[in-house]
Amino acid sequence: MHRHNIAVIGTGYVGLTAGACLASLGHRVVCADVDAAKVAELARGRVRILEEGLPELVRAGLDSGRLRFVVGAAEAVRGARTVFVCVGTPTGPDGRADLTAVDAVVEEIRPHLEPGSVLVTKSTVPVGTAARVTAALDRADIGVVSNPEFLREGTSVRDFLNPDRVVVGSDQAWAAAQVAELYAGVDAPVMISDAASAELVKYAANCFLAVKLSYVNTLAELCEQVGADIDRVTAALGRDHRIGSAFLRPGPGWGGSCLPKDTRALLSTADSVGVDFPLVRAAVDTNAHQQARLAAKVARLCGTGGPAPLRGVRIGLLGLTFKAGTDDLRDSPALALAAELARQGAELTAHDPAVPATGPGAVPLDGITVVDDPYRTAEGAHGLVLCTEWPHFRDLDWPRMAAALHRPVVVDTRNHLDAATLSAAGLAWHGTGLSPVE
Ligand code: UGA
Repeated sequence: MHRHNIAVIGTGYVGLTAGACLASLGHRVVCADVDAAKVAELARGRVRILEEGLPELVRAGLDSGRLRFVVGAAEAVRGARTVFVCVGTPTGPDGRADLTAVDAVVEEIRPHLEPGSVLVTKSTVPVGTAARVTAALDRADIGVVSNPEFLREGTSVRDFLNPDRVVVGSDQAWAAAQVAELYAGVDAPVMISDAASAELVKYAANCFLAVKLSYVNTLAELCEQVGADIDRVTAALGRDHRIGSAFLRPGPGWGGSCLPKDTRALLSTADSVGVDFPLVRAAVDTNAHQQARLAAKVARLCGTGGPAPLRGVRIGLLGLTFKAGTDDLRDSPALALAAELARQGAELTAHDPAVPATGPGAVPLDGITVVDDPYRTAEGAHGLVLCTEWPHFRDLDWPRMAAALHRPVVVDTRNHLDAATLSAAGLAWHGTGLSPVE
């Protein structure tokens, strides 16, 4: 295999995963970040992001000498044939992706890029960014490629090394071919396209997933009203290969750093060119509705009745991150639900294995007391609400939970717990989309 010299700018979860994985494929990779303290930690093999397999891969890369960390993008691109831009693209005030960080990197590295090198955007960037970068570079000897990532937080190493497909888009065939070569060691089809199509695939995929999930969450609501069982419905639905069985689990709504941001960004792009996209808008609106729906359910099942059923009522929350396997709280539906419950006067105690109550990693969360011991969430509570599907929640000592609860009620927003175990412990388990609401 041809070994390349690669620079990766930005060591967030996309950049660090890409850098470590590309080094594991045999390439020589220099990763850059503006944060000197972070670079120093990474150079010592210390990874702060919770990603399965990533610390091991980073250390293996360092040991082999194929992975290095430096401060500053200009330093990293010297001698690099391919430069991956993996900096953040947060949502701007108008819903569009904010390209400030991408623009700044392009500006910084422009004079330092080697002739014949290729600049690759891996951050999620709006359609047209390749053209914008080409114009900003203003160097005919540099290729510009869009190579979107489809990594899921928590499984990003596996997703990088075993993808369903690799998408490489460019309006310069030579540049696309140069980037495609990097993936020779990956067993997946490399799909080469023009730049705009590659840029759009990323949004098309995430928005489709958001639509799928909102569809399921509304189906779950419908199931509760008509006496159907969402798990049976989706099990049969997923057997249709045109639909597929993944991404059919009901929950408290979709969150994280990608789906909410990308749905807003696609709507904004569509709007800017006069295209109406009501399906994606409906998925976003449906998602916003989940927390109100769940809060009403918690009020009904755990509240004290009257006009303010949750006022002064203690509720325990199991899970705060937007999904299991990550410590990411960004746009977490658990936090949105907590905010709604707190607004209605509930007193909240929460436990999440990835969210420490004290110490350096602790973050203050408005209206929520975070505890390190899951059993403390039950103490004197009128009910527990499971928000995140951490596997070990299933194996908690449920009789002990039941003994600590003031009222033996568990609202499971993800149908994650074992109903029989909870019932044997004397708990009333209320799943999602399962039975007519009492
Ligand atoms: C998502 C996409 O899945 C990745 O392909 C994409 O690369 C990534 O965004 C990105 O744009 O970088 P991620 O945000 O890590 O990945 O999270 P997912 O695993 O997709 O979950 C998104 C949300 O949907 C979570 O809140 C999760 O709990 C929820 N979900 C997922 C469900 O409620 N039910 C399901 O069946 C699946």
